[in-house]
Formats: sequence, structure tokens, C-alpha cells
Amino acid sequence: MINRIAVIGTGYVGLTTGACFAHLGHEVICADIIPEKIESLRRGEIPIHEAGLQELVKEGIASGLLKFVLGAENAVGDAEFVYLCVPTPQGADGSADLSYIQAAAGEISAKLRSGTVVVNKSTVPVGSTHLVEQALGRSDIPVVSNPEFLREGSAVDDFLNPDRVVIGSDDRAAAAQVAALYLGVRAPIMVTDPASAETTKYAANAFLATKLSFTNAIAAVCEAVGADVNDVLLGIGYDSRIGHEFLRPGPGWGGSCFPKDTRAIITIAEESGYDFSLLKGVVSVNEEQFDRTVRKVTNMVDVDGATVAMLGLAFKAGTDDIRESPALEMAKRLVAKGAKVKGFDPAVSAVDLEGLEVVGDAYAACEGASALIVATEWDEFKWLDLDKIAGLMVEHHVVDSRNLLDRGALRRRGFTYQGVGRS
Ligand code: UGA
Repeated sequence: MINRIAVIGTGYVGLTTGACFAHLGHEVICADIIPEKIESLRRGEIPIHEAGLQELVKEGIASGLLKFVLGAENAVGDAEFVYLCVPTPQGADGSADLSYIQAAAGEISAKLRSGTVVVNKSTVPVGSTHLVEQALGRSDIPVVSNPEFLREGSAVDDFLNPDRVVIGSDDRAAAAQVAALYLGVRAPIMVTDPASAETTKYAANAFLATKLSFTNAIAAVCEAVGADVNDVLLGIGYDSRIGHEFLRPGPGWGGSCFPKDTRAIITIAEESGYDFSLLKGVVSVNEEQFDRTVRKVTNMVDVDGATVAMLGLAFKAGTDDIRESPALEMAKRLVAKGAKVKGFDPAVSAVDLEGLEVVGDAYAACEGASALIVATEWDEFKWLDLDKIAGLMVEHHVVDSRNLLDRGALRRRGFTYQGVGRS
């Protein structure tokens, strides 16, 4: 069945949601408050680096199923479903700032037809579904929570091939209507109450962050005892209770979600009288991981006055997002120690950080550098000409925080090499 869906907010969640629903055959209108963004989206140009999204947006425009309008109130009049996909940034006290979502709900309220289902896809604290109900102030409009589990860089694939769809509402009929939107998608669909759906979202991100801090902690143990973390993780991953996913050690985790959501759930727990000490540990292990990685560089070379080449600036490969990027955390620390950092990222052309110069390719970053640090796991870094890099650098030290490069090939060329969790 074809439904009319309005999507409020065209960030990576909203745009992916809108384009994918159009791909599934629904009629979708996406709204945003930025006129230039709407103009370029209408031309099929997307503002973010997201695999497959541009193609889906163009497909939706061509089929007439995907439209873009300025202002939420202009998108919702005819809609049977309204997806709220606006940001929930971190407020000053660590909790999520709900002002955007409340403003959006207030703005659209008078325009909605009776019976339109409002769906909350933004990551929101427990109880927010009811807050949206209050902001709408309409008893004839059911509100449903339908949290997203999309990863940046593979958001389209995650939407169309999800592990599960979680739907939370006190209104079971409205929940069933939302479930029907996903008929073209093969996945378990779980219907629960709003608080459980909202908590599921935070619990998933908190668990994944825990898995990563655990991985990085085991990497530190491996370094201390002379084990190889890749083998150890392979070994534990064969246990089906553990699995191989999300066990890559790195410079620490970052991005627009894990840091914000872990802090938010710590605050949520605190406010309800539970000290989530486990998750506090997870967060501090992550901070330590940035320091540990930087220490590997400073143990090799006196960075004060030296140039450090940084390969990768985005918080992970496959995206141009630098929000809470481990690369920038490390760059800040290196700059504070007097280093000049020259960074290159295939998807990032500018960063506003004093002491960090963004250059046009990996070789330009290495020119005159005393140390090279791999911060983001872009595949193309594997194929760099190591002889050329050796010729460009003034000292030959490599810290590979993603275990990406060929350590044997580097050592054969006279580099000192330090990966993560293995010698
Ligand atoms: C994360 C979740 O994975 C999504 O399910 C969720 O929907 C999303 O947050 C969100 O809340 O919107 P994302 O932030 O895009 O997605 O990135 P991830 O792929 O989860 O990576 C997060 C961080 O962990 C990155 O810094 C990445 O480099 C790091 N990571 C990930 C590792 O260091 N090792 C791994 O094995 C996996």
C-alpha cells in the first residue's frame, strides 16, 4: 500500500528515511528550514557523503515520489504519517536538547489532518513520545516512536536491510500502521511501548560503545603481554554469544551518536537514581584511548616543532562527518604539544582547528613530516606508494591506529611502526 509520508529534517537520518521510503513506493515530502539545502536537494544534490543516497534521491525525484519543501508546515497538510527527524544535540548538562523536536511538533500541530500518525525517529530520552504528544496538543494524533539504527556511510543499506524495526506506542493501531510502511523490507518488526522503544535505541548504542571500549582495552592488554589483538578478537568472535562484528580496535570511538548518546543515558540513569558506573568507565576508556594513541607518537618523536602527517580526519571511513572525530581529538592533543599537523581525508576538505592544515592528498600530508598517524580506515590508504612516502618524510615513524597499513612493508623500508594491540 502506498502511503503519504512527510519527513521533517533532512539530515542523514531524515534524508535517508525519506529517500528509502520513496524507493519502497511511498509518496514522500521532505522538509527543512534551510532554503539553499532545499534548492540543492531539488536538483538531486545531497549535502553529505552517504553511499547510495544520491542515487536514491535522484530516483525519487525522477519518479515523482520524493519532493522537497521549505518549512515543516508546508509538508504535512496531506500526510498520513509525519516522521520527525530533527537533531537532538547534547545540552549543557549532558542530556539531549529537545527544543528542536518540540518546536517542530508545535509548528505542524494545526496543519495535521485528524488521524495522521506522528513518528519520532530522532534519538530522544525516555518519555519524549509523551512530550511530543504534549507539544502537539491534539488527542486525535497518535505519536509513535520508531528509533533509527542507521550507521553513517551505510545508512541506505541499513534502512533497506535492517536487523530489526522497533516501534513503540501506546496506540497499537497506530503502531501497526507504522509497521505496514516497512512491508517492502525483510526484518523482524517489534512492537512495544514508547519507553521501551526509546530505551532500546540508547541501550543499543551504549552496548556497542561498551564493546568498542572493551576491544580497545583488550588491545592495550595485548600490547603489554605481546599478544596480537587481531587473533585474540578473531578467537573470541567465533563464540556465537560474542560474534565478530564491531570488534575492530581503533583510536577510540566518535561520531555524532555514541559520544552524545552515552552521555545522555548516563544522565538519564543519574536522574532516575542509578549510577551507570559501567558506562562511565566505557567513556573514560575511550578518552584514554585518544591519549594512548597520541603517546605512541610522542614516544617515537619529539613533536614540539615537528610536522605530523595525519591520514584520515572523518570519524570513520565512508563519511565526511568530523563530529567528535577521534582524528581531531588526536590532532588537538598533538597541536597542544607543539606539533604542526597536516591532515588529509578523501571526503573532508576543511576543518576549523588551529594548528591543523588540511591538504589535498596523502603525499602532501607526508611532506616534511617526522611521524605519520593513520586515524581513519579509508581503504585507499592501503595502496599508498610507501617508497614515495619514505622519500617525503624527514623521519620515519608510523602510528597506525586502525591496523590498516602493511607493517612488514613499512619496516622493510626502515620505518618504525606501531599499530594497535600488536607489535
Ligand atoms: C552508530 C550506530 O552504529 C548506529 O546503529 C546508530 O543508528 C547510530 O550510531 C546513531 O545513533 O544514529 P555511527 O555513529 O554512524 O552509527 O557509526 P559506527 O559505525 O557505529 O561507528 C562509531 C564509532 O566506532 C566510529 O568512530 C568507528 O570508527 C568506531 N568503530 C566502529 C570502531 O572503532 N571499531 C569497530 O569495529 C566499529
